[in-house]
Amino acid sequence: MIFRPIPKTNELIPVVGLGTYKNFDVATHTKSREPLKEVLKIIHQHNNAVIDSSPMYGSSDSVVGDLVSELGLRKLLFFATKVWIQGKAQGIARMEQSFQRIKNEIMDLMQIHNLVDWQTHTQTLQAWKEKGRVRYLGITHYQKDACAQLETVLKTKQFDFIQLNYSLIEQEAEERLLPLAQELAVAVIVNRPFAQSALFSKVRGQSLPAWASAVGIDSWAQFFLQFIVSHPAVTCMIPATQHPHHLQDNWDAFQHPNIEPHTRQQMIDWLASI
Ligand SMILES: NC(=O)c1ccc[n+]([C@@H]2O[C@H](COP(=O)([O-])OP(=O)(O)OC[C@H]3O[C@@H](n4cnc5c(N)ncnc54)[C@H](OP(=O)(O)O)[C@@H]3O)[C@@H](O)[C@H]2O)c1
Repeated sequence: MIFRPIPKTNELIPVVGLGTYKNFDVATHTKSREPLKEVLKIIHQHNNAVIDSSPMYGSSDSVVGDLVSELGLRKLLFFATKVWIQGKAQGIARMEQSFQRIKNEIMDLMQIHNLVDWQTHTQTLQAWKEKGRVRYLGITHYQKDACAQLETVLKTKQFDFIQLNYSLIEQEAEERLLPLAQELAVAVIVNRPFAQSALFSKVRGQSLPAWASAVGIDSWAQFFLQFIVSHPAVTCMIPATQHPHHLQDNWDAFQHPNIEPHTRQQMIDWLASI
């Protein structure tokens, strides 16, 4: 597995983590939790893998907390969740709830979800970081229209992480945000690495090009993820899945070296041609 450093501290995290939107929003005591346990067993095999949740994702915070406790994996993961509400008191209450649901006393990363009331929550989180309740602060969005605002926020230099959408069909972050994150030593988590399945729909019925197989890419998921990681500003990606074999596929992409820059351009050209 390839690891990359969080720029501000040099702490290493695997380039592939796990998103929990929809896939971890499952009911208590249902058999839908069983495959998620297998997913968690795979992600803990490489120390410090990011698991990204949010109170916006229904029961995800609770399901992460319950299953990680049940499996005894707490010390091996890097926990990221979010605050997604207006108001200082409301933000504090929701974040306290996430601490309880995930069952952590210290959160590795607390992110302000979709920029909601970010000035207010940043004040709270700076104070919590000083007290050691959160280790890193982040800010997120998932749409190209937010790039300009994310850029302004990043320039305030208050954030350790930015989470943004970036993929073969959502490349807008390359123009300014990714270079800015590099310049300011901000870690980048990529959400929607498959554009929420739109990339799979785009290549449906197509075989992998021979030049991709020749560089060790064995599936479409690996093709899409290798493109993302080949950008040097990217610290990690968080594809969501509820299927252990899909997670294994996503992780297998990084058992061999990254693709070369010319393969990256081949990927862009090939996708544009279909
Ligand atoms: N504003 C924000 O902060 C924000 C916004 C969006 C997303 N996020 C975060 O980013 C995460 C990822 O984004 P996303 O969930 O929207 O979409 P995504 O990761 O781009 O796509 C998820 C879809 O890909 C499928 N998939 C995963 N691995 C696969 C594989 N190897 N082969 C085939 N299909 C595969 C999953 O289906 P299966 O379950 O069947 O595998 C699922 O339908 C979220 O879960 C969330 O944690 C944050």
